[in-house]
Amino acid sequence: MTNLIDQARNREWFYPYELPDGNVVSSYHGGELDLIHATRWGMLERRLKAEHPHGFAGLKAVDLAAHQGWFAHNLAGMGLTDVLGIDARARHVEDASLMARIQGHDGLEFRQGDVFEIDANDLGTFDVVLMLGLLYHVENPVGALRVARSLCSGLCVIETQVAPNLSGMLDYGSYRFVRPMKGSFAIIDEMADTEGPEASVTGICLVPSLEALTWCMEKVGFRDIEVLPPPEDGYEQLVHGKRVMVAARA
Ligand SMILES: C[S@@+](CC[C@H](N)C(=O)[O-])C[C@H]1O[C@@H](n2cnc3c(N)ncnc32)[C@H](O)[C@@H]1O
Repeated sequence: MTNLIDQARNREWFYPYELPDGNVVSSYHGGELDLIHATRWGMLERRLKAEHPHGFAGLKAVDLAAHQGWFAHNLAGMGLTDVLGIDARARHVEDASLMARIQGHDGLEFRQGDVFEIDANDLGTFDVVLMLGLLYHVENPVGALRVARSLCSGLCVIETQVAPNLSGMLDYGSYRFVRPMKGSFAIIDEMADTEGPEASVTGICLVPSLEALTWCMEKVGFRDIEVLPPPEDGYEQLVHGKRVMVAARA
């Protein structure tokens, strides 16, 4: 165990993991992002407790784009029975797995994988599906929503940056044929960042407006779509609606 803890101490972390001796691991952002993690976890925890007031035993969860696994660890710590974290980057999976060995959570597993290569027939379905901080890093956000839906038998929570919305009518082939816009996507260039720990793996990113997100979620088969309220003292982006956390049922 000492060896594992030393390994954790020698690494740099995105999340403020606490080690068994009470010390917090060192962060590569100097703690600047701790509030976004705490705000998101608080919002998620509240929604999950409302969904499962009698506890979490027997529930299965998948955390898509789990990074170093903090949300997956928190779910396991809350008592969910089986928690799987998936991330495209091998180094995150190694870090998350190291921390799982230190924390000793049963039923917590991490795998390397691209969300677009997930086959729900292999993985089955999950009572809780998390897709936090991923949607705005992918070139096919609707495809990512379809993957989340295919894995979900209960509650799905999606958290994303959102772009300004475009609404109104669009000439659609002719001025005589117009269609209403249901939302919009902004393109963000991450082509130079694809090696970054939080970035897109392809470099082309489509960020949905909130209207686009909720409309697409409904069209891929989610229901009871709900934008979760942020706490007043939360991370500024969530407080001001520049990022949102949306829960929906399968
Ligand atoms: C901004 S981080 C969010 C991490 C975590 N979910 C959170 O909200 O704190 C984006 C994560 O998505 C992962 N990622 C990016 N594209 C992916 C893909 N196509 N499939 C799986 N993971 C991906 C990155 O490696 C990174 O860990």
